[in-house]
Amino acid sequence: MSSPPRPNGRRILISAGPTHEPIDAVRYIANRSSGRLGIALAQRAANAAQDVTLLLGPTPLTPTDSRIALHRFQTTHDLDLLLTEHFPSCDALVMAAAVADYRPASPSPTKIRRAANPLTLTLEPTPDLLANCSSRRRPGQAIVGFSLEPAETLPAAAREKLIRKRLDLVVANPLETMDSSDIDAILLYAGGREVRIADHPVPKSAFADVLWTAIQELLDAAVPTS
Ligand code: CTP
Repeated sequence: MSSPPRPNGRRILISAGPTHEPIDAVRYIANRSSGRLGIALAQRAANAAQDVTLLLGPTPLTPTDSRIALHRFQTTHDLDLLLTEHFPSCDALVMAAAVADYRPASPSPTKIRRAANPLTLTLEPTPDLLANCSSRRRPGQAIVGFSLEPAETLPAAAREKLIRKRLDLVVANPLETMDSSDIDAILLYAGGREVRIADHPVPKSAFADVLWTAIQELLDAAVPTS
């Protein structure tokens, strides 16, 4: 299949959706992420004639615009490989993917049979893909992360993540955001700025416009790369 002509905009790399971490040949550990916001953001950036690559996890939703270069992933490891390939050349990375924090340490290649004894799974931490990208960023690259927190710890925990992962911007979401068509997020910037949406919650498609404007501002403020 030939690729559609790519516009000459900035290179925007977006990850979205859940990961599936195999337990055995037929079972996995997942989360309720739909990928809806990442897809809406990819569409918004494509409408603005940017060069958009979307790394999308296992979700029934899919973009319909052929200007979006789409790569699917299942596991954190798959996404890691895609980021290794696509992150170095992007101008902005938006990590909306709900990456697993833990995965089965030794997935069985065959189907685990039911037995009378309890089954214990050992989970190992996954690598922090976002922090790894940010540790090898070029000057001028903008990096946006997401944080999903209970409302009571939201701004503080998200700001801690922003600092620890050395992000330019973190989209701080209450837990209710996951798998919803609406979002009630706060934008927290590295410089300390905090932006709340006036009429909240808003549909994710409308929030994609807000986020896209924020990303453009980050790119305009970034040191240009040669
Ligand atoms: N992320 C990642 N690699 C991981 C886990 C998360 O790149 N192994 C990214 C996600 O894409 C998201 C951000 O990091 O942009 C979320 O950070 P995380 O530490 O997972 O926070 P939460 O899941 O929001 O909360 P918790 O701290 O409870 O894990």
